[in-house]
Amino acid sequence: MNRDIRVEGIPDFIPEKAAEACVARLKEAVNELLNFTGLEDLNVLVGTPPRQRAQKTGRSKTGSAVQGRSDDELSLQERAAQYASRSPLFDFDFLVLPDDVRETLLSAIDLVRLEQKVFEEWNLRKIEPFPRTALNFYGPPGTGKTLAAHALASHIGHPILTASYAQVESKFLGDGPKNIEALFYAAERDNAVLFVDEADSLLSKRLTNVTQGSELAVNSMRSQLLVSLEHFHGVVIFSTNLIENYDRAFETRMRHILFAMPDESSRRKIWERHLPMELPGSQEVDLDELASLDGVCGRDIKNAVIDAALRAARGGKESIDQADLVKAVERLKDSRPGEGN
Ligand SMILES: Nc1ncnc2c1ncn2[C@@H]1O[C@H](COP(=O)(O)OP(=O)(O)O)[C@@H](O)[C@H]1O
Ligand SMILES: [Mg+2]
Repeated sequence: MNRDIRVEGIPDFIPEKAAEACVARLKEAVNELLNFTGLEDLNVLVGTPPRQRAQKTGRSKTGSAVQGRSDDELSLQERAAQYASRSPLFDFDFLVLPDDVRETLLSAIDLVRLEQKVFEEWNLRKIEPFPRTALNFYGPPGTGKTLAAHALASHIGHPILTASYAQVESKFLGDGPKNIEALFYAAERDNAVLFVDEADSLLSKRLTNVTQGSELAVNSMRSQLLVSLEHFHGVVIFSTNLIENYDRAFETRMRHILFAMPDESSRRKIWERHLPMELPGSQEVDLDELASLDGVCGRDIKNAVIDAALRAARGGKESIDQADLVKAVERLKDSRPGEGN
């Protein structure tokens, strides 16, 4: 179920700064309500809804905005209105990682907990006016990067704002950088953990297979990203596959955390978490044998469980068994290109 709450209560004549402050407080209050009630699937959008943008720009000084064109008229706040945060989807406990990686993750976001003491009371704001946490989760697909971003947000009790690189990229030169600026603005507005998915082309030095035009566009987005990062106050997490060539600027400005393929003991825990008690037969399976099936990532395990359960239900079975799961893993491996022969 998708439930949207739109708050459009701040009239034009309120000075921008005051309006900003109101919106930020309102958001905070609503997020607190969400955390408090445990409600999920609730999107709260404060500001100008997309519906009204066209009318608004139409009324503006320099004439009408044609739909489908780059919209230079959008203010930062209006542009940021397209990004809405939400409650995290996963708890930290659901995430399975080697102990050292888990520790690294937790210590990386300690800033959120300690900021008041260290930066306000001890006045380290004097040397760092914009304390922030910037992380890059890198590694093969399906190893829990997206899950970990949600888990961290949930751990610190903040909402999460997700955007993929494709969403901020724009075919209109100049719009991409503005979208990045708006994205960071929206995250701060909502006091949300910012998660930038599929950020490979944004963070890497090299571009391959692109035309001159898009190379230019990406470069200008990188420059904006640097500026936005410098001024960002909060937690930002990037997710990338294996990047060979990081842009120097980003290499040193964020903490890089590897998400590797799970080993046997991690696979065992991941299987365990993906077999709910309510799934008939799930408590009788042999976890050791399942864990011994190698070459699978967390997402494979999730898909195998779903596949096995659906097949059982479709075939009129009342429960799943070990063989169903093992077969599901085999099917999954066989279906991969370059495997199974
Ligand atoms: N380390 C992990 N611990 C627990 N579940 C995992 C893990 N990795 C993957 N999964 C399962 O696979 C799903 C997809 O993983 P995801 O976080 O989207 O991977 P990525 O973002 O690295 O491609 C998760 O929602 C979860 O069900
Ligand atoms: Mg992902």
